[in-house]
This record gives sequence, structure tokens and C-alpha cells, in this order.
Amino acid sequence: MSESNTGIESSMQENRLFSPPAGFAEKAWISSREQYETMYRQSIDEPEVFWGNAANELHWFEKWTTVLDWKVPDARWFVGAKTNMAYNCLDHQIAQGRGNKTAILYEGEPLQSDGQPQLRHITFAQLRDDVGRFANGLKKLGVKKGDRVTIYLPMIPEAAVAMLACARIGASHSVIFGGFSSQAIVDRVADAKSTIIITADGGNRRGQVVPLKANVDEALKSTDLVRKVIILKHTGNAVGWTEGRDVAWSDVIAGQSTDCLAEPMDSEDPLFVLYTSGSTGKPKGIVHTTGGYMVGTYLTSKYVFDLHENDVYWCTADVGWITGHSYVVYGPLANGATTVMYEGAPNHPDFSRFWAMVERHKVSVFYTAPTAIRAFMKAGRELVDKHDLSSLRLLGSVGEPINPEAWMWYREVIGHDKCPIVDTWWQTETGMIMITPLAGVTPTKPGTATLPFFGVDAAIVDRDGTELGPNQGGLLVIRKPWPSMLRGIFNDPDRYVKQYWSDVPGVYFTGDGARRDGDGYFWIMGRVDDVINVSGHRLGTAEIESALVSHDSVAEAAVVGMPHEMKGQGIAAFVVLKTGKLPSEELKKALMGVVTKSIGALARPDQIRFTETLPKTRSGKIMRRLLKEVASGNEIKGDTTTLEDFSVLAKLKEKDEG
Ligand code: WTA
Repeated sequence: MSESNTGIESSMQENRLFSPPAGFAEKAWISSREQYETMYRQSIDEPEVFWGNAANELHWFEKWTTVLDWKVPDARWFVGAKTNMAYNCLDHQIAQGRGNKTAILYEGEPLQSDGQPQLRHITFAQLRDDVGRFANGLKKLGVKKGDRVTIYLPMIPEAAVAMLACARIGASHSVIFGGFSSQAIVDRVADAKSTIIITADGGNRRGQVVPLKANVDEALKSTDLVRKVIILKHTGNAVGWTEGRDVAWSDVIAGQSTDCLAEPMDSEDPLFVLYTSGSTGKPKGIVHTTGGYMVGTYLTSKYVFDLHENDVYWCTADVGWITGHSYVVYGPLANGATTVMYEGAPNHPDFSRFWAMVERHKVSVFYTAPTAIRAFMKAGRELVDKHDLSSLRLLGSVGEPINPEAWMWYREVIGHDKCPIVDTWWQTETGMIMITPLAGVTPTKPGTATLPFFGVDAAIVDRDGTELGPNQGGLLVIRKPWPSMLRGIFNDPDRYVKQYWSDVPGVYFTGDGARRDGDGYFWIMGRVDDVINVSGHRLGTAEIESALVSHDSVAEAAVVGMPHEMKGQGIAAFVVLKTGKLPSEELKKALMGVVTKSIGALARPDQIRFTETLPKTRSGKIMRRLLKEVASGNEIKGDTTTLEDFSVLAKLKEKDEG
């Protein structure tokens, strides 16, 4: 255990080591440690050669003149090249003989009267036609290259169709997770200046209908930016209709040709913007461009998931998150893989649903989040054991640190001790997996994402940028550019520099604390900024605070993360009431409601504590570390001399104990 000037301490000890299963390497893309070392060396020493070779496995209308043009903090990859992401995911696959192969294998949530779910097998040829027709429809509605199109859909094939249609014509999509509320839609639409929204009447989730169209209608009361709302009929529930603005998906595609020119996009033209939480109240629009993102997601999908022709690949993430963008849609399709999409919840009708699906579709590669694994553990292995999981050959984890107990359960109960686990560390901003084992070659230890992927120069440093030694906790940074790195924050170049390139001189700062062990393996310890990771979903504490403060009884609020058995992190809110307002259970409920309404149920605090004042430093900064300790019930330690008012702490502690 040691501490640097970062204040990050690491105390976890884990010595179990698991070699890749015998025989796995023989059929794997990366088949020996020597091959990994050689390729890694080249990727760092000669990134142009390494990434140029990778890019050559894809289709380009015109090749690049320069692989990389880099001046901190701005990278341009495959400079001068022209390509199209949708063309690579569809036409290029069909040209290689995959026209009749299933591209998307979809399963709806509701069970029909025969007890079976609705299934759809959409081939690459059909998907190309669906995308072409919808893309032509978007054009007819006036969508042009460079426009932003908002997508607010359930986890259904049409979400992929809408994304690919935007990519085909060069419009940037901005996908909003279906669990977000109307206020979140307003903020994102306004920031992106998006004039079109694609949504559905509703989505099925845990036996209920999520009223997507109604949420959009509510959102559009507070903005008049949007001129067209396209509505897919999916659940069949009744929806309101605004004449002139609302148009049915079926009318958008009616009479449209399936052929739609794939716009030759400049490699650096934007592909999409995706909003994520940061340390201020306003979500930031992460911008990804075409060529580099395509190459990064293509190559990581191929090598990390070791995708081969007969794999049935299932990533359980929602398309509303980066994992859904990179590893449900773009990465697997650019590899010509069959990607599974499931509409609903893991526990509908019970926690055996995923395992029934693995059996039904003979899923071979399965990628999910630690929070889901913990929920399955709690539900009990009987629900798993009644299903035949012998088709599985590789398991993946993403979104938050996986605790060794969950890792072992995943390995034994789901993987039957024969499937390697790839614990993949990456971010919305990185676009692709950055730190990960390679299934055939990297010995794994429960709880570590192990080693950097090709081309990734990751390091643990202190605040001055000095690299730290083994097992010293510090800041995780990336020192060299990589193809799928974010190109900026939409409309906010200053924030881009401030957020990622200012804390540590000259390098990309991830916002995560981590350490490297004696074998060079990276152990991620979690965010060191004001971002909390609840069930693998990133939430900014500032966003939740501003929701709480919008209630007219609240004077001030501070939100911190605390350990949570199932969610990884839970949310604790410390609330100071206005003079004359009194704490009560009703008020707590009302405040929970305010957060749910303005962000979504995923941001609902687990605890609300009323307090008279918040502990602050002399400069007025809320002492979050202290609040975290209070929230997690730990003893107060550390330096408290900068506290403005010791009695605050005492009072908080008192409440904590009471
Ligand atoms: C965390 C999700 C530990 C981390 C792809 C990161 C992880 C944030 C892992 C990004 C992992 C993601 N081990 N922590 N394997 N994967 N994280 O943008 O804190 O939603 O900075 O991207 O999740 O979350 P985001």
C-alpha cells in the first residue's frame, strides 16, 4: 500500500492467476504472448505502420495521405481518406459473401401466448435495404450531411437502422438512452441543435411500456428547435400526435428505394456525438469522427472478442451508451459478425432470461457489466444451471471495476471454468477498448483489466506527470493518440482542453485512479473526479445537485458516491434546506421525484440526508472526500484543519450514527 501526491491509496491484494484455456490460442487471432509483444511494440514504435495495416482491412473510397497528424491535444487520423461507416458495416460485408448471414439477431422482451419471445433474424442484405430506405426517407425530410439527428429508441433493430442511416448520409446521430427523462432530452437536443428526433411509441421494459413518445412530447414543450419527430410503431400504445411535426416511420420509408448512396465521408468528418456526464452540471457531447473510430472499433472487436465467422456475439449494453455504439452496432458489424440485440430487462420474466437466450441462440461470445453479474449472483445459480451454456467460449466485462468475487462467479458459474474473461477498461471518450486481456494469451487475475491494447500507451502518474512505480496508486493517463479518441466536446473546445489535457501536462487524463502491479497489470480504482459510476452508468454529481436545488425547499446540495453492494456505487445526497423548511419523509420522496423527473430513475439517490450546512474548505469548495466517508459510514480521517466549521462535521457524524 502506498500513497503518492494524488492521494489515491490502493489496498487490494489479489494473487490468483488464470492461464488462457488450453487450445484457445490455436484458433485465436492473437495466439502467443510473443505475437502480442511484437505487435504491441510495433504499435507504439511505428503507430503509422500498425494502424495503416489495420485500416487496410477495411473499405475506403480513397486512401489517406498521412496516417496520423498529431499536435497535442488534436489528432487527425487517416488524413485525406474517404470512407463510410455504414458502407463498411453493410455493403462491404455483402461484397465478402455475407449477404445471407444474420447481421442482427433480435429478441423482444414480451413472451407471446406460446411462451416464446418475438425473434427477428435480419441478414446483412436486409439490413442494407432497411438502412437504404430509411436513409432516403431522412433525406426527403431534409436531413443533410453534417446535421445532428437525435435518436431515442428502445433496444430494437430500428435503433441500429437509424444510426446506420445517419452514418450512410453523413448526418451525426446523437443517441439518448431510453431511460433518460424529458429534461435530459431537452438539454441534449438544445446543445446539439438537433432538429429531428427519431423515437417510438414505446419500449418494453420489465413488463411495462416505457412511454418514449410521451417523453418526447413533454420535452418539446420547452424547445421549438425540433421540426420533425419520426415515430416508429412498436408497442402499439396510444400516443399524442402533433400535425405537421410528427411523422410515422412507415410513412418515412413508404415508396423509398433501398439504394442510397453511401456518402464518401472525410476520415475526420464527425460520425456521432454522444452525451456523457462530467464534473459540471451540463452533460458534454463527446464527438467521434469517421475513419479513426471505425478502425479502432473494428480492430478491438476482432482481437478482444476474437470474432470468427461462426460466432454469435452478444453485448448486453443499450445503444444509448458508448458500449452499445462501439460493441453492439459498429465494431461487430464492421467485422461481419452476428450481433444479438435484446430489447428488455435481464430479469423479465425472471433472472434466467439471459441464460435462456444464450441457450436459444447458441451465443458464443458474451459481454456484460459487473452490476448485472452481481444481480445474477444474488438471484442464485439454479437459474443459470437449468440452461445449456456450452456454446459460450469467451466472456467479457465492462463499465466498472469488477470485484473478484463477481469475477470468480462469472468464470465458474457462467464460463464453467473454460471461458477466458476479458475485463475491458475504456470510456465514452476513448471510443474503443483500451486496457484488456487478449483471451488466448493473457493470464488473468480477478479484478484487473490487465494490459493495454495495441497502440495504447497507458501509464500511472502523479499530478506532475511523473510515472509511478509498481503498486503506487495514481492517475491513469494515455500518453499517445489512438485512432478512436474523441475529437472534442461538441461546441466547446475550451472545455475539451480543460477537462482532459490540463490536469496532467501533455497527456490525456482519464479521470480514473489506478495502479499497476508488479506484472504491469492495470487495476482501476474508480473515478477521482466528481463523476460517479452507478451500475456502470456514468452520472455527474453536479447534474444531480442541480436537480435537487431546483426544488424550492432546497438551498444547497452535495452529492457523492458510496459503496453499494449491487450497483457498485450508490448515490448519497446531502441537502441543506432553506430557512423555515423542515426535513420530512415526504420531502425526501419529493426530492427523489425531482431527480427522477429531470434526469431519470437511474440517478435517484439511495440516501438523502438533511444537514444544516455543508463542510467546506476556506476557498469554499465542498469537502467531498469527507462527505464520502460519512456516506459510506467510515471513520473520518485525513486532514480536517481546512474545515470552516468543525461543528458541521460533528453534526453530520451525529446524524450518521443516529
Ligand atoms: C469505468 C463505458 C474499471 C471507468 C465503456 C471509466 C471501468 C468509466 C471499466 C467510463 C473496467 C469502464 N474496469 N472501470 N473494465 N470500464 N470503467 O464513459 O471509471 O460510460 O472512466 O464508458 O467507467 O464510463 P463510460
